[in-house]
Amino acid sequence: MTMHYAPELGQPSADSATRLDAYVASRTFDKPTLVIDLDRVSAQYRALKTGLGRADIHYAVKANPAREIIARLVDLGAHFDAASRGEIALCLAEGAAPAEISFGNTIKRASDIAWAYAEGIRLFAADAEEELVKIAENAPGASVYIRLIVEVSQADWPLSRKFGCDRDMAIKLLDVAKSLGLNPVGFSFHVGSQTRQAAMWAPTLDVFAGIWAEARAAGHDLSVLNIGGGFPAFYGEEIQAPTEYAAAVMDMVEARFPEARTIMAEPGRGMVAEAGVIVSEVLLVSRKSERDLHRWVYLDIGRFSGLAETEGEAIRYQFETTRDADQHGPCIMAGPSCDSADVLYEKRPVSLPLSLTAGDRVLIRNTGAYTSTYSSVWFNGFPPLAVVVI
Ligand SMILES: Cc1ncc(COP(=O)(O)O)c(C=O)c1O
Repeated sequence: MTMHYAPELGQPSADSATRLDAYVASRTFDKPTLVIDLDRVSAQYRALKTGLGRADIHYAVKANPAREIIARLVDLGAHFDAASRGEIALCLAEGAAPAEISFGNTIKRASDIAWAYAEGIRLFAADAEEELVKIAENAPGASVYIRLIVEVSQADWPLSRKFGCDRDMAIKLLDVAKSLGLNPVGFSFHVGSQTRQAAMWAPTLDVFAGIWAEARAAGHDLSVLNIGGGFPAFYGEEIQAPTEYAAAVMDMVEARFPEARTIMAEPGRGMVAEAGVIVSEVLLVSRKSERDLHRWVYLDIGRFSGLAETEGEAIRYQFETTRDADQHGPCIMAGPSCDSADVLYEKRPVSLPLSLTAGDRVLIRNTGAYTSTYSSVWFNGFPPLAVVVI
């Protein structure tokens, strides 16, 4: 399928696609490779920052921890949301100040909390009493924000259920934090990754504004609201452009949380997805019988080598081939490993050229987020997804 670029829909600009395309077209690749355009990351940072205004951008490192991306974002003035000791160490090594890094995972190893505290990290997330005890013991006096559970998400990749706590628990945890000598500064949440339209945030913000007001009425001088990620990337369905989207979210936030002195936003996908393209190759096109209506297209990359977010066919990547002018037909797409779960799209088949054949190059657009880090190490002997930053 040929991509039509329409920046007003929040799709990648022709310029950045050209730079990536020029690089990719001039090279051969002997394994699946993610190519990232750093200038595109900068442009996206600026676009989001323009919309987010006074909010601090804490880039969610988990989306893509390439050193070059972290270094570029440090230069641009970004802050960082780190999920682990490893991500904190990476950000520090690339020049981020400890005060600009939050330890945002609600599930932390006690020794990692102690290590982070020794490195100067002072802001931690929690959604449970046991976690607060760990933080109090290993990061005495640190600031904490309590993560609220998002019950209903309209995101394509929801993060509900596993993270956060409900209203009563959240208000209790603010008290517990205080009693443990911590500094409870506010709340965090995540509307769910790939929330395509800003308007989809409204129901969540409405509920949390009520909890925020109750906590303040109960005597908690909340000052920090961490609105998490959720900023979308273009995967074929219409999304709002980044500045417009971020500004709409901020308008809703400002109207509901007027006392929030610090607003943190943690874009991951929305920062880096559109900066990357994966160059892959068709390994096999086949049918299971002479009568089989279904064509199977096997790529050299699959569920276990970078495309984990095809789980449940939730994230639908855009494929581009050199034969896109030819007649198309539906196919089931699968990866190369000897695991029958390694099927990318079957329930909703993908339309690809009927002339597609082994050895053809396939570009997978807007794959700069949640691909390289989801790639397994040596499963079936395949190397992890190669990453090139230009
Ligand atoms: C705490 C936290 N913040 C931010 C993000 C980034 O979310 P997104 O990629 O949707 O922007 C995540 C993703 O899992 C997260 O867990």
